[in-house]
Amino acid sequence: MILFETIKETREYSVSKRKNGLSIGFIPTMGALHEGHLSLAIRARAENDIVICSIFVNPIQFNNPEDLKKYPRTLDQDLKMLELAGCDLVFLPSVDEMYPEEIHKDYDFGTLGGVMEGAFRPGHFNGVAIVVHKLFEITLPHRAYFGEKDYQQLAIVKELVKIENLPVEIIPCPISREQDGVAMSSRNARLTPEMRNAAPFIFHILKQARKMAQDHTAEQIEEFVKLKFSGHLLLDLEYFTIASGHDLQAVSGKISPGDMGFIAVFAGEIRLIDNIQLI
Ligand code: PAF
Repeated sequence: MILFETIKETREYSVSKRKNGLSIGFIPTMGALHEGHLSLAIRARAENDIVICSIFVNPIQFNNPEDLKKYPRTLDQDLKMLELAGCDLVFLPSVDEMYPEEIHKDYDFGTLGGVMEGAFRPGHFNGVAIVVHKLFEITLPHRAYFGEKDYQQLAIVKELVKIENLPVEIIPCPISREQDGVAMSSRNARLTPEMRNAAPFIFHILKQARKMAQDHTAEQIEEFVKLKFSGHLLLDLEYFTIASGHDLQAVSGKISPGDMGFIAVFAGEIRLIDNIQLI
């Protein structure tokens, strides 16, 4: 497995593979890899001639400086996992390599960007879009793999591809869960044992919401979820929204096929997100 720290080497590698007619699958990550990332890498390995992964903790997508400072970093373990998954190249740029000068770019994702994570984490999706665009220009992938846990991020990246006319296919991959239902996330490593024990409650409530969707309105389900969290001693609900999985706009009344429940919860200092398809 090749490790490159420079844009030049990585781009030249991709250009030469493309010239030889090889397909490139790309997995952008911020490291602290878990089985969810591994499943993306394995899928990319099966569907492409070349698999490239990037590990870059992107400072411009963090709206909370503490979160950036404490973001887990486990490079040695990450590289072992990627090697096992059959990754060909890992791109490991520094912040200076990615952002030699200040970036002035303001994407407008319309209604997609203003709700849920976009509303609670100002600037987050702009930072994601800037880095993903840049990573695509460096790695030149035919396909790029994103997990559905960050469902809104996936929608934003698909929109970015449209706005910028990028020749890359975005492949959504299902959420990987721990045995107790907790959605896999790099941030789980930062949960205290007490919060980790509490975390399965999130998916438990999402499953109850899914059951209710058969014969309750969006408002009734939202009320139910709020009530359940208001009685919880450890977990602090930031939002639970029922929205269309197509355009992420809030749903009212009867639940329709494709509607989803989206949730963000504070488990102590750690912010966890999750989602579920309701019907
Ligand atoms: O999902 C992530 O890990 C990040 O948002 C991404 C896509 C690697 C961009 O920094």
